[in-house]
Amino acid sequence: MRVDLLIRHAAQVVTPQGRSPARGAAMGVLQIIPDGAVAIQDGRIAAVGPTSEVEAQIAEAAEIFDARGQAVVPGFVDPHTHLIWAGDRVVEFELRLRGATYLEILQAGGGILSTVRATRAASREQLTAETRSRLDQMLQHGTTTAEAKTGYGLEWEAERRLLDVLHDLNGVHPLDLVPTFLGAHAIPEEYRGDPEAYVERVIEDMLPRLAAQRYPAAGPWCPPWADGRAAWFCDVFCERGAFDLDQTRRILETAKGLGFGLKVHADEFEPSLGAVPLAVSLGATSVDHLVSTPPEHLALLARSATVGVVLPGTSFGLATGHYAPGRQLIDAGGALALATDLNPGTSWCESMGMMVALATRYMKLTPAEALTAATLNAACAIGLGHEIGTLEPGKQADLVILDAPDYRYLAYRYGVNLVHTVVKRGKIVVREGHLTY
Ligand code: NIG
Ligand code: FE
Repeated sequence: MRVDLLIRHAAQVVTPQGRSPARGAAMGVLQIIPDGAVAIQDGRIAAVGPTSEVEAQIAEAAEIFDARGQAVVPGFVDPHTHLIWAGDRVVEFELRLRGATYLEILQAGGGILSTVRATRAASREQLTAETRSRLDQMLQHGTTTAEAKTGYGLEWEAERRLLDVLHDLNGVHPLDLVPTFLGAHAIPEEYRGDPEAYVERVIEDMLPRLAAQRYPAAGPWCPPWADGRAAWFCDVFCERGAFDLDQTRRILETAKGLGFGLKVHADEFEPSLGAVPLAVSLGATSVDHLVSTPPEHLALLARSATVGVVLPGTSFGLATGHYAPGRQLIDAGGALALATDLNPGTSWCESMGMMVALATRYMKLTPAEALTAATLNAACAIGLGHEIGTLEPGKQADLVILDAPDYRYLAYRYGVNLVHTVVKRGKIVVREGHLTY
């Protein structure tokens, strides 16, 4: 066999296995290969195993990477981000440190609405440049695929512009983006007195228009149901002060009828409105946040095919001290994924390594469970478990070489970037921490 890239003599090659989410105890099961190798051909993984066995199959390698003393893991998948916005909220950050709450600031017309003002006002060039620099950070921190939500436009033209920019960036940046429509992120200022009118606008105007809009096909990595869609998923922020349960249900039912996959921001702050049972009954791909989810809803989620996405960066970013019951979801047999929630209000963090560090400490995940949550299960939370999230022959060759001899350093050592080299679709896009694409 002739290959494009051979990574060999890694201290460990570590990966979960499979194409569907690992659930319960299976989340802690990893394949760990000492003195491991990964062979890559045409952007796909051709072989994984002990270096001696992989080398025995290879006649010629165009490039060889010796990963002595380094652990190799799948590229991280970040399945919940709001990565496209303009401006910042550093003033609000300080207000919160002084005691104002997130929902109070939103109710006063700040929060999400202040980022909506900045995003609507930004030129397309500014929006693209600011977003692109975050994509670079994510890639340098080992994220090779991410979900990206709209939600800072909150009117048709502004939301569509966000999707246009996301699609443009997808074409030029190595990190793959999965777009989600989050028109129901907040009630825009113009509709303050009549939120129901905005819900109708989302249901009767924005969703049907988006479903009709066609973008160039993303390629063979994209599941057939999503190909060419402006957005693969529809999401709703179900929370007091945002969208109530009935509004969430009507938006998600319409989206489902139009062929969108479904996601929900469920139980982030206030006592549960009941978004988890709703999302599960509609067959949502994921339910996200889950901080105030009651045990009976967690049990229901654990028995369903829906992935629970937890966002410890948000709890840390807001310093609430309340972390989602990730341990309990796993113990109940559920499938758990980790994400950054990257956004300017609650969690400006591009690093999935940081999420692993937080989830092991505050959600009591083992390092193995956290790695599964940040790779295979995260891929499944955006419909891509067949294509990415593990190091197995046939999957896309997305992987990270760590400046650490053991994958558990990802949890153990924090606040620095342990990512040495990143391979995306078989190409080295970060080398020794520097972008090379
Ligand atoms: O997931 N809760 C709603 N959305 C984001 C925050 C967005 C923002 O504050 O700009 C979240 O925490
Ligand atoms: Fe979010």
